[in-house]
Amino acid sequence: MLGLSDLEDNGVAIIDDIHSRAEVINLAKSVGVIRPHPNGEDISTLKSSDGKNSLPGTLSNIYGLSAFPFHTDTAFWGVPARYVVMGMFRKSQCTTNYISFCDIAGVISSDFRSMAEKSIYLVETFEGCKYTSPIFCRNGVLGFRFDPNVMKPANGHAKKLHGELLAAMGAIEPKKIHWNGNKAVVFDNWKNLHSRSAVKNERRELFRIYLEG
Ligand SMILES: [Fe+2]
Repeated sequence: MLGLSDLEDNGVAIIDDIHSRAEVINLAKSVGVIRPHPNGEDISTLKSSDGKNSLPGTLSNIYGLSAFPFHTDTAFWGVPARYVVMGMFRKSQCTTNYISFCDIAGVISSDFRSMAEKSIYLVETFEGCKYTSPIFCRNGVLGFRFDPNVMKPANGHAKKLHGELLAAMGAIEPKKIHWNGNKAVVFDNWKNLHSRSAVKNERRELFRIYLEG
């Protein structure tokens, strides 16, 4: 069992004995400042679905109940959410999987950071499009964003980086979070990519909170 002290070291903290949305919100407030959902709520409820009624371009809309690719949450924000807090009270066979940029940098042939600094991506969402860098620094903390769903490489460096990132993700064995009931997870969204395995024969309900960068 991990605790909050592991967040700094591992980029992920797993907290057990979390039984309610209020407890997930309290946990989030102990880590950082909540950025409310556009609907004004601090916490979002994500229910697995075939995605037909999900917002166009979202992972649910594109992948439905299939596995999601590795990504950064809110990669399309100016600065992505610093931490993502997730809670699940029921048991689920569907795991959350993650890999760290440290591990990715370790298998990428050339200098990951300098390649990222020269890369330009086009971010496209249903709200519009803009150019962005996959790497950023805020308050002395280096962060990285990657979401192949909304980010397309826009220069040669980004094309090379993109190919190497996808290859690295295929080569690294991800760590897995098993949702075995009444559990919450705090994720460093600047240091890890995460994904979700396919949902099979269950109604999965995950609660999520974004914390400011
Ligand atoms: Fe996500």
